[in-house]
Amino acid sequence: MKARILEKLDCPKCTDFKLAPQGQAGACPELVCPSCGASYPNREGIPDFVGTAAAPRTFSSQWAMEFSPLVFLYERLWRPMVTAPFSSLSWEMELTSEYLSLSPGLELLDLACGPGNFTRRFSKPLAGGTLIGVDLSLPMLRRAERELRRVGADNITLVRADVSRWPFARSCFDRVHCAGGLHLFPALPDVFASIHRSLVKGGIFVGSTYCVAEGAVKGGIQKYVSAAHGFRWFRPDELRELAIDAGFEGWEHRMKKQGIVFRAVKR
Ligand SMILES: C[S@@+](CC[C@H](N)C(=O)[O-])C[C@H]1O[C@@H](n2cnc3c(N)ncnc32)[C@H](O)[C@@H]1O
Ligand SMILES: [Zn+2]
Repeated sequence: MKARILEKLDCPKCTDFKLAPQGQAGACPELVCPSCGASYPNREGIPDFVGTAAAPRTFSSQWAMEFSPLVFLYERLWRPMVTAPFSSLSWEMELTSEYLSLSPGLELLDLACGPGNFTRRFSKPLAGGTLIGVDLSLPMLRRAERELRRVGADNITLVRADVSRWPFARSCFDRVHCAGGLHLFPALPDVFASIHRSLVKGGIFVGSTYCVAEGAVKGGIQKYVSAAHGFRWFRPDELRELAIDAGFEGWEHRMKKQGIVFRAVKR
């Protein structure tokens, strides 16, 4: 594992403790915390901070994100199809790139990267920089890995982690991006605080998610999706407040239907 990646990883149980690679020298070491002794396996190149967590509840959104047929169809079919009534995926991707204002050599963390559909777009603009894609779903990460190899994006490292057990060091990323994840995460104030902590001063957080719909049809769909799959829908103010409470400034956002893309800066 490259030193540039290792220095960005911390033990999720003991904040600010660097991990030591153990085992045979090579690309896939197990990572061990010198403070609490916890060890984190490496799944063929993917450091795993989750381990053997309980299987997600059947038909929950996380169950779907680990269900092979859906993982297979996610990028080309599922994501564009479920996004279309509420937003526009191409708009989300374009505005995200504009807000991130990427340049060669920057270091970026892509949260809830799924199959790497956004992550791959950042590879060329960040030539010479480091990208980490993180997700809870191992099947999604395996899919991402395959796609990265196919397009030869060799500056991206994948990590399996739960954003609630943050394994990233302080002030080590210039950019943090999160598309399609905020409405799924528990304890959002903690997630915003973790993102803020891991950004350098002047670092930018860009996120995209979905707001509450007014009409009966879309409102009804959203209520059903919340009850059945645990999604939440935001008021734009709510996201801005989360960002400000975490210490961000320079809030900007744009909306398309219920889709929202925002940017916030760590001063
Ligand atoms: C809808 S997909 C988004 C994928 C991609 N970023 C996109 O916009 O298309 C949501 C992803 O969030 C991941 N996820 C959900 N809860 C998570 C958590 N607590 N920590 C890390 N990833 C999580 C899921 O595994 C899934 O891959
Ligand atoms: Zn530890």
